[in-house]
Amino acid sequence: MELQILTLHLLDSMPYTNAVVHESQRLGNIAPFNLPRLTTRDTTLAGFHLPEGTILISSLTAVLSDRNDWETPDVFSPEHFLQDGQFRKKEAFLPFTAGKRVCSGEQLARAELFLLFAALFQRFTFQAPKDMKFNLQVKMGLTTSPHSAGKILPHFSELLSFRVDDALSTVHTSPNVSASSIPVSH
Ligand code: HEM
Repeated sequence: MELQILTLHLLDSMPYTNAVVHESQRLGNIAPFNLPRLTTRDTTLAGFHLPEGTILISSLTAVLSDRNDWETPDVFSPEHFLQDGQFRKKEAFLPFTAGKRVCSGEQLARAELFLLFAALFQRFTFQAPKDMKFNLQVKMGLTTSPHSAGKILPHFSELLSFRVDDALSTVHTSPNVSASSIPVSH
């Protein structure tokens, strides 16, 4: 079967894939506390007095899991972004937040997420390894990462010790290099 070359122009004609990527970001919620803010002067916000110098930590989880906006907030459901088979935008979809300090990589990230995942879904079928159950537990940090990642992916610390120039020389000198030659922790 000949595979269609993916471009961003196809986004509108692939509502389900688009919805899956959005729902992954909603439930993935990788920056649950946004970035902290500091009031630069005395401020009143939603009736609360905030003196100058107050640190504010907002909750994107509250927005991405609000029962008023998402029918089944705790369930992975691309239907959150679909209506009559068409993609529907949701104002409460704010993983990049909004306003003056909105993520400046938003457009790049959105484009890459669509192109990468659409290409992967086009070529592969994904399933959990035998006897492995995935869950939605996360390791908490400024950003979150999957709790079970260590079982299937190298730990971040191992990635750090995997020198980039070693990796590049391997790729250049060995045309048969494959994913299995990259160290993986079990
Ligand atoms: C899925 C991917 C990403 C997510 C969910 C994400 C999310 C966020 C969030 C929540 C913020 C805080 C915004 C705020 O303070 O209101 C932020 C800030 C920022 N992001 Fe991203 N981001 C992503 C990818 C990227 C990429 C790919 C880049 C750069 C190429 C990038 C660059 C930045 C920068 C520079 C800021 C600071 C903006 C500022 O303070 O003015 N992000 N991002």
